[in-house]
Amino acid sequence: MTTAKPAESPRPSLTSEAPLDVQRVRRDFPILQQQVRGRPLVYLDNAATSQKPHQVIDTLTRYYTKENSNIHRGVHYLSELATTKYEATRSTVKRFINAGEEREIVFVRGTTEGLNLVAQSFGRQRVGEGDEVIISTMEHHSNIVPWQMLCEERGARLRVIPINDDGELLLDEYEKLLSPRTKLVSVVHVSNSLGTINPIKRIIETAHAQGVPVAIDGAQAAPHLRLDVQDLDCDFYTFSGHKLFGPTGIGVLYGKAEHLEAMPPYQGGGDMIKSVTFEKTTYNDLPYKFEAGTPHIAGVIGLGAAIDYVEGIGLDRIGAHESELLRYGIERLSAIDGLKLIGTAGHKASILSFVLDGVHPHDVGSILDGEGIAIRTGHHCTQPVMERFGIAATARASLAFYNTKEEIDALVEGIHHVSEVMG
Ligand code: ALA
Repeated sequence: MTTAKPAESPRPSLTSEAPLDVQRVRRDFPILQQQVRGRPLVYLDNAATSQKPHQVIDTLTRYYTKENSNIHRGVHYLSELATTKYEATRSTVKRFINAGEEREIVFVRGTTEGLNLVAQSFGRQRVGEGDEVIISTMEHHSNIVPWQMLCEERGARLRVIPINDDGELLLDEYEKLLSPRTKLVSVVHVSNSLGTINPIKRIIETAHAQGVPVAIDGAQAAPHLRLDVQDLDCDFYTFSGHKLFGPTGIGVLYGKAEHLEAMPPYQGGGDMIKSVTFEKTTYNDLPYKFEAGTPHIAGVIGLGAAIDYVEGIGLDRIGAHESELLRYGIERLSAIDGLKLIGTAGHKASILSFVLDGVHPHDVGSILDGEGIAIRTGHHCTQPVMERFGIAATARASLAFYNTKEEIDALVEGIHHVSEVMG
């Protein structure tokens, strides 16, 4: 659908003239063409990981077939080629999230590593005894545990923004939690188990008014929303490639240069140094200071192809299609007897989490699987959300731009079948 853009091309206009041609984009995804358990695959587990278009698969194949080499090290042709492509993706990511500078883009393994990097480097530098870090009830475990570890180590305290019954943050409570003891706020942009889109711009403004920096977990936002880190004015923003139609094992941490400059390295090793003696090591410039060791070169280049692909379709067009799909899904699922949606925020994206009277979510998932329908069941790495709603687990269908209303119909039919079998 798209070809690689020159590294310095302007950010494409994402205003869409025509609606998304979903049948056309589906043809880009080889995995969607297959049958599973004798039925056409209905893939509704996109929040866990999304599928890859052939543009990404071909990029990876080409890399390993013709371009594979280590970067930043060799003087030979392939090393220079791999280095150029790796660094071109940094430029693509900068454009994608509208960062101010390429050196603010650090390649990490994924959102989890991005958050751990912020906690272990920025957090350890800033948070001391008696200080506080604010997160929210709807955080993924990867935006809870790194802060818990930090707070335990430092004698600091974790404060949690509560949510209402629709799965929305209670902003008044958030404002009350902010105090001179607050050293950092870290919240999720889009909840993976509820779908809530949080008002992060307001959350950031409120924290900044008190001089408190803010980190954002963007894992579930990057595939669905147009991002602009300069407009948000967030201090850190992190997301994963594999949820954005790119490879697994690669992600991005954006950090404001002033923070990244002042932070100590997260890991030591090759490439993150300028010079090493047994007496003293001098660290490399940004962003290399945070990229120790041979990175996931193929993953980075594949991520570049994924972003080019998504931008080629257009985030606005994707958003319009997914909003209509979500509206249709909510309408159809709400009409099922005994089904309760968990996560009913007014502003939400792509997630249909639900419980069905008298049926364990695991059974819902297994029976749907028998019909070729892939969803996720469980606590979705958000156990505090489950506790808040007084449940152990949900069944979760999560959407991507290649999903269709017919697939929602298949899900609804499948859920009726579950009720018949289990009823
Ligand atoms: N965090 C991913 C999910 O929500 C794995 O499924």
